[in-house]
Amino acid sequence: MSKKKVLVIFGTRPEAIKMAPVVKALEKEAVFFETRILVTGQHREMLDQVLDIFQLRPDYDLDIMLRAQSIGDITRRVMEGVEKILKSFSPDILLVHGDTTTSFAAALTGFYHKIPVGHVEAGLRSRNRYSPFPEEMNRTLTGQLADLHFAPTKGNEKNLINENIDRERIFVTGNTVIDALLSVVDSKFDFQEPELRKMDFTRRRVILLTAHRRENSGAPMERIFRGIRRIAEEYEDVTVVYPMHLNPEVRAVAKRVLGEVDRVLLIEPLGYLPFAHLMQRCFMILTDSGGIQEEAPALGKPVLVLREETERPEAVAAGTVKVVGTEEDKVYLAIKSLLDNPLEVLEMTRAINPYGEGRSAEKIVEILKGRFGTGKTKGTKGGEK
Ligand code: UD1
Ligand code: UDP
Repeated sequence: MSKKKVLVIFGTRPEAIKMAPVVKALEKEAVFFETRILVTGQHREMLDQVLDIFQLRPDYDLDIMLRAQSIGDITRRVMEGVEKILKSFSPDILLVHGDTTTSFAAALTGFYHKIPVGHVEAGLRSRNRYSPFPEEMNRTLTGQLADLHFAPTKGNEKNLINENIDRERIFVTGNTVIDALLSVVDSKFDFQEPELRKMDFTRRRVILLTAHRRENSGAPMERIFRGIRRIAEEYEDVTVVYPMHLNPEVRAVAKRVLGEVDRVLLIEPLGYLPFAHLMQRCFMILTDSGGIQEEAPALGKPVLVLREETERPEAVAAGTVKVVGTEEDKVYLAIKSLLDNPLEVLEMTRAINPYGEGRSAEKIVEILKGRFGTGKTKGTKGGEK
């Protein structure tokens, strides 16, 4: 039988981290699959950091990033670029990830060419079409376009069934972010960054901050940062470390509110290796990121989510994640409460992992083999249930 041609498409930092294990698992099955990587370059530096660490070599790079690019621009340029590659490579299946505009635009292009689409990290929902924006709509539409849905959890599967997706096409696989995380977390690690090298993690309580969501851009982000500034000013044993996202709008607010504040370190985005170790060593995490809400429970780190709702209720149910919103006082009080109450921290530090044991990519590849008649499939033919 001829090899099946798989085109793996991604463009931003989190997609690259979460697709890296899938690419590696596909490459192990080179007898069955001819795998090619297409990066859109929706992100540049932040994407390249991940390509380096996982030694991923793209076959195609659309290099579409522009400064402060609009969502419409990304959509148009991804569709134009992907279409050309579909014509020249003619894949048997496209794999896209999650909820970015790269993923949605690539899935739509695949659909127009009647090429099946596999959606990795399918079925997450906040039920608010404007939050996260545009991710909630991107992932909902990608769900409608996809032929195979790789849902991290049973809850995600249920969301898809509620949207009339054929249950025979949904596979609960866990989240590949755990595969990625487990592959980099190593107890023997020394930071190269001077600020982190000299940090005494035993004496200082390091609060790790990340923030980049579009719906938080402007006033909500300003309120969040003001709440955090009050904490840094009040607690002498606290250092806030913020590897700033490269989005210029985010950086402008961060520098304005937190730039001159003692005990706040504004640094450049970290590679995945140092970032994972910083998550491991810090006292707590403040974030509006999706991926970090999945990684932190696996590491047993308390997370306060700087958003009004989350599409990751499993991490909240596990007890390691609390949603605090974007009001200055709420942010300030939630952090203060953890800093002042060791018991509350203890309750949030049980390492519970609702997202699988780090074998999600392997499962996805097994399912793909089934799909192409080289292994087991779901339901009556056996395999995933
Ligand atoms: C994008 C995704 C979001 C995802 C996030 C992960 C969309 C619309 N947004 O948001 O779903 O959660 O990535 O981080 O798909 N920039 C650089 N270098 C980089 C990356 C970004 O300079 O490596 C700057 C550019 O000026 C760029 C801007 O950041 O125009 C915004 O990037 P963009 O991909 O449009 O949106 P994000 O906010 O990063
Ligand atoms: N991350 C990283 N370096 C950083 C900040 C985050 O490697 O400086 C990783 C983090 O561990 C997670 C992913 O990037 O795996 C999350 O990316 P981001 O917050 O940009 O996107 P989201 O998950 O919100 O879509």
